[in-house]
Amino acid sequence: MKTKAAGGYWSNAQLAEVVEMVRKAHGLDLYPYDGNFLANSLDRRMTATSIPTLPAYAELLGRDPAEAEVLFRSLNVVYSEFFRNSLAFSLLEHLILPGFLDALEKSGRSEIRIWSAGCATGQEAWSVAILVAELAGTDGKPIPGRIIASDVSAFDLAKARAGIYRPEAMGNLRLKHVYNYFTRQGDVYIIVDRLKEGVEFVVHDLLDECTIYPPESIFGDFDLVLCSNVLMYYRPEMQRLILSKILRSLTEGGILLTDGTERQLVESIGGFHRIAAPAAVFRKN
Ligand SMILES: C[S@@+](CC[C@H](N)C(=O)[O-])C[C@H]1O[C@@H](n2cnc3c(N)ncnc32)[C@H](O)[C@@H]1O
Repeated sequence: MKTKAAGGYWSNAQLAEVVEMVRKAHGLDLYPYDGNFLANSLDRRMTATSIPTLPAYAELLGRDPAEAEVLFRSLNVVYSEFFRNSLAFSLLEHLILPGFLDALEKSGRSEIRIWSAGCATGQEAWSVAILVAELAGTDGKPIPGRIIASDVSAFDLAKARAGIYRPEAMGNLRLKHVYNYFTRQGDVYIIVDRLKEGVEFVVHDLLDECTIYPPESIFGDFDLVLCSNVLMYYRPEMQRLILSKILRSLTEGGILLTDGTERQLVESIGGFHRIAAPAAVFRKN
């Protein structure tokens, strides 16, 4: 079997050799990543280093820890946007979060429990926090939600926690969200403190074998988990591992939101059913 990348073909055996060599030479683990994604990433590094063949590039990787590090880092894609998946966020706003808030009132519970897994620079977590605040009409009070936002990258989490965004990042936001949930300082926009009180950013690796969910959440039991644009970068066995953890972290009837491109893989793995086609929003079976 061959894995196609933009600039050529690699056999799975060649990819496996590179993975093993980088692990042995530099202690970096490329194994969890999806084959096509890895092949494309190798291809991009070959172009950037002007090395035309895989054996020559593999040789460079073996002897140069800096190049191995650059390749490894390139596998961690951190791009994010506010309200990135408009269809899914619309379902959250009009169906799922109102239902959760209603259930809170009836049950006497004080908060909705939400986990943004692979939150990058925070836009996903802040988007859901904005919706909870708006729907609950908190009017200056803390939101009735506990949002745990986790990522493997402490560097990006620090940006997420600071909640400072340049105007280019604000495109998907409604004007009322910008006015109500950000303050402007010079040419940046900063998340307001009352929203910050409801969101905790923590380092957590979804592939970690010792944890199911971030220990800071104390117990899982999340009503909602957002894990979008994360699964697609991993090989099927890692996707299954992550989804099985999410399944165990969700409360009975809890909801999972992924990116639309990850819809089929969630359906193929099982444990969830889609609640409204074509959005990638699922309920735990
Ligand atoms: C493309 S961003 C997606 C951000 C956000 N979820 C969104 O959809 O806009 C992927 C994020 O997942 C994080 N990530 C990748 N693998 C992870 C893992 N094993 N554990 C935790 N976070 C991970 C990356 O660090 C990155 O910040």
